[in-house]
Amino acid sequence: MDIRETHEHDVLVIGAGGAGLRAAIAAKEGGASVGLVCKSLLGKAHTVMAEGGIASALGNVREEDNWRVHFRDTMRGGKGLNDWRMARIHAEESPDRVRELEAWGAVFDRTEDGRMNQRPFGGHTYARLAHVGDRTGLEMIRTLQDHAVHEDVEVFMECTAFRLFKVDGRIAGALAYWRTTGEFVLFRAKSIVLATGGIGKGWKVTSNSWEYTGDGMAMAYDVGADLLGLEFVQFHPTGMVWPPSVAGTLVTEGVRGEGGILTNSEGERFMFRYIPELYKADTADTEEEADRWVGGDRKNNRRPPELLTRDIVAKAIVAEVEAGRGTPHGGAYLNIAAKRDPEFIKSKLPSMYHQFKELAGVDITTEAMEVGPTTHYVMGGIKVDPETAETVVPGLYAAGEVAAGLHGGNRLGGNSLSDLVVFGRRAGLAAAASAKEQGATPDVPSSELESALEEVNAPFARDGGHNPFGIQEELKTVMNAKVGIARTAEGLAEAVGDIRALRNALKACSVDGGRAYNPGWNTWVDLHSLLQVCEAVALSAAAREESRGAHTRIDFPETNPELVKHSTVVRNEGGRMTTIKEPLPQPPEELRTLIEEGV
Ligand code: FUM
Repeated sequence: MDIRETHEHDVLVIGAGGAGLRAAIAAKEGGASVGLVCKSLLGKAHTVMAEGGIASALGNVREEDNWRVHFRDTMRGGKGLNDWRMARIHAEESPDRVRELEAWGAVFDRTEDGRMNQRPFGGHTYARLAHVGDRTGLEMIRTLQDHAVHEDVEVFMECTAFRLFKVDGRIAGALAYWRTTGEFVLFRAKSIVLATGGIGKGWKVTSNSWEYTGDGMAMAYDVGADLLGLEFVQFHPTGMVWPPSVAGTLVTEGVRGEGGILTNSEGERFMFRYIPELYKADTADTEEEADRWVGGDRKNNRRPPELLTRDIVAKAIVAEVEAGRGTPHGGAYLNIAAKRDPEFIKSKLPSMYHQFKELAGVDITTEAMEVGPTTHYVMGGIKVDPETAETVVPGLYAAGEVAAGLHGGNRLGGNSLSDLVVFGRRAGLAAAASAKEQGATPDVPSSELESALEEVNAPFARDGGHNPFGIQEELKTVMNAKVGIARTAEGLAEAVGDIRALRNALKACSVDGGRAYNPGWNTWVDLHSLLQVCEAVALSAAAREESRGAHTRIDFPETNPELVKHSTVVRNEGGRMTTIKEPLPQPPEELRTLIEEGV
């Protein structure tokens, strides 16, 4: 057999962003031997793209803040589709996780009296995001990476995991290949934590990096895990729209958190026209009030409408463009120079200053930016237990963006970084505890390994088939056009058909050369996952016949109150992808009142 290298650990973590690193550290704390596999170089995780901050009710800037307000904001932002138990755990535990990051060396920005500073973000009642300028994810990865290495986690970089194996119903290992050599490597493990992030590479315009091809979701689905809530894909309202080579690159919500305003081609601050009933009580309805809030009087004034949740702001920008009031390159203007002086902008948003100067030739201290929605995050993912992050497959855990539940129909900015550390830690601890209860790690049957190898080597044996890059481009076109911000039954049905045709084309692909650093073959492997998950997204979106949060159906424009009680689950039933409407656990009375009426 073509496998010359095998490693064995109690816990294998796949993915080295915030969730994977925190899980690896926790599993070590739990006494397990730990391997950490990452597709990219250690430190180059997509977590760094969460720029504006980490949400937690520390109460440093507004002492009224506490877990109850954070919980309520998260549930409201998720339009009621969150798993309330995860939302509660997240709100309660995130302050400890942030303080722990600080204790491990993260250097957060400070308030004048020396505490961790917190900035406002969309949908958060109070200034809640601890931050490091606009490079918070980067600082978090640096901190966690140093800590994991210090804890002696064994790291395997530039290594792509593509297949999981079960023995007697429990997870037993993963097959991977080194990107540098194309050689295969088998990881045997008693527990596995998936922390592979999202699926943004399925869309043309995205803030996501190349690793985001849905690997974890597809691997989990293949061994019987359920996928939940995949119709909810977040389009961040502010990505760059110009020049084309950088379209989709994130423009942090921190710009709006620090006072940036959105205007259309007529110079109108249009967000005042898009305040929904749910947020009327919390949102300023005049420029004067919004300005007083930005000026610092936050107790007596309500938040500017630019800080409504992302689903609302993204749809408003699209509506303005469709009404003919867009910018020359099809977006809206985002202007911080109108409200803040150059020194303030450069100190609070240094990356944005350089990003626009170097990539677009725009000086954001004097000029407006052109921005528009970009595929940023998927709220859906692998269904997990809210306490332990275990999937329905014994021994298989998932944390971070790859997992579902916490964010419901729309994620609040900053809640992803806190999600990573809260549930990464829980997954790592539970995976270690469960590994301890197992006997020897079982052997993966060689017949299963051989058939996995045969499948992954197949494109080299074919001549003149489809080209993986062509399939990748077609997929992006389909997802942008038919599974984008606004959807219809017809478009979604077409998308499912298109994706199935692309999956068939993938089976007929051929790849030249050898396996070492072969981008064509790497893309072919990634596409197995991405196509599968994109099909699940399109099917889930077709199944939800309402508009809610990030999921907008032109043919069902209203929110259906009955559908808050159900999640969409995608299940592998004997090789057939099926969608199921599953009851969603409802919060107890006391918490329901808190969500509906306030704190
Ligand atoms: O806009 C941002 O800085 C992104 C943050 C997030 O997605 O949480």
